[in-house]
Amino acid sequence: MSGMSDREQVVADDRAHVFHSWSAQGKISPLPIASAEGAWFADYDGNRYLDLGSQLVNANLGHQHPDLVAAITEQAQRLCTVAPAFANDKRGELARLIAERTPGDLDSVFFTNGGADAIEHAVRTARLHTGRHKVLSAYRSYHGGTAGAMTLTGEPRRWGSEPGMPGVVRFFGPYPYRSAFHAADAAEECERALAHLEQVFELEGPHNVAAVLLETIVGTNGVLVPPDGYLAGVRELCDRYGALMICDEVMVGFGRVGEWFAVDAWGVTPDLITFAKGVNSGYVPLGGVAISRAVARSFEDRPYPGGLTYSGHPLACAAGVASIQVFERDGILDHVRTLGSEVVEPALTDLAARHPSVGEVRGRGLMWAVELVRDRGTREPLVPFNATGPDAEPMTKVADACKDRGAWPFTAMNRVHLAPPLVISAEELKEGIAAIDAALDVADTYVTG
Ligand SMILES: Cc1ncc(COP(=O)(O)O)c(C=O)c1O
Repeated sequence: MSGMSDREQVVADDRAHVFHSWSAQGKISPLPIASAEGAWFADYDGNRYLDLGSQLVNANLGHQHPDLVAAITEQAQRLCTVAPAFANDKRGELARLIAERTPGDLDSVFFTNGGADAIEHAVRTARLHTGRHKVLSAYRSYHGGTAGAMTLTGEPRRWGSEPGMPGVVRFFGPYPYRSAFHAADAAEECERALAHLEQVFELEGPHNVAAVLLETIVGTNGVLVPPDGYLAGVRELCDRYGALMICDEVMVGFGRVGEWFAVDAWGVTPDLITFAKGVNSGYVPLGGVAISRAVARSFEDRPYPGGLTYSGHPLACAAGVASIQVFERDGILDHVRTLGSEVVEPALTDLAARHPSVGEVRGRGLMWAVELVRDRGTREPLVPFNATGPDAEPMTKVADACKDRGAWPFTAMNRVHLAPPLVISAEELKEGIAAIDAALDVADTYVTG
């Protein structure tokens, strides 16, 4: 007997032995979580927090969903694991359910363990299919923590892993609020971003370009919703130059923006879609690549040179099948659209009107960002780009104020993101937005302009 409380034991073990992601190990104090249910989680002191970030925009069906827990339990009692070379009922059923929901003829699914390896396999597939090696990927993107996915990532988390995989060329995607193209509005941003991408193709030699990789809606790097016409324009450029279009939907797929896949909002069909997270709410790690028929045919007679021991893991796939059934039965996509347009959009628009620290609010469905500034005129961010330590303090204080009101925010750089579980109720959502409202009073104290 150590004489420690449960909480103390968790903290002691964590601090002594757990090496955490993206962190200076001596400078963190992770909150020990005791339990979670629906849109809430709780610590060991009985404090409950509304989960405004869904655990890295992952738990789309919330915590401890009974259908998912039952599906995993049943599967565990029947068959816990099977090598990828065998056929398996839940793996096949999930692949079929996904294929029925992807746009166009993306009818084959290669299962991975998460998002980063889905990206690795999508890029490998594109290179083998086209016989070309270059991949164009966007600045202000995140694609995962493995070697290739890190290189493809267009934000500071890449820096510590450089130099990375050869053949990656980065471009600017659209971001009307901070336009790289001095565009006056979204339509001009779209036109100029496409002209820029076309130029990148030309300068790299289109015959060298295997794929354009982009997040359909950029997630952690700002909830950047592409202007109408942008994705169709990228599709057209890829077709013109014989490159594949890879849409990374690890964060925005499976209902996050009120569509099975975010590309559906613009009626665009990529050649490959990467997914993870929301496919089964992360109850058991799972990701994958949905592959078009033409690309899958490339590997009809020659072997695909890649695999994973856990590809299509039965526990993960059973949770995925149950998740899609819950989405259909409970009308989750409609729920997300309604909450997005009837609760979140008006409430955040109201916050923007009342708080001078709000530069812009943007989003779709249940994926939003509140971008904070010191000066609305100059758009100077509340904290500098990639701020750490004392420079980041204003955002830390904003996050703390939100937590004090019982809501756990997802913050990134100078933004508060709102990406709660999709099963959240309108009342809970309003409670969460009220907490952000109170936190913005803190942000307002830094306003200079
Ligand atoms: C858009 C996007 N792609 C890929 C990844 C990497 O996924 P994972 O952490 O499951 O490897 C993430 C993770 O946040 C993501 O947001």
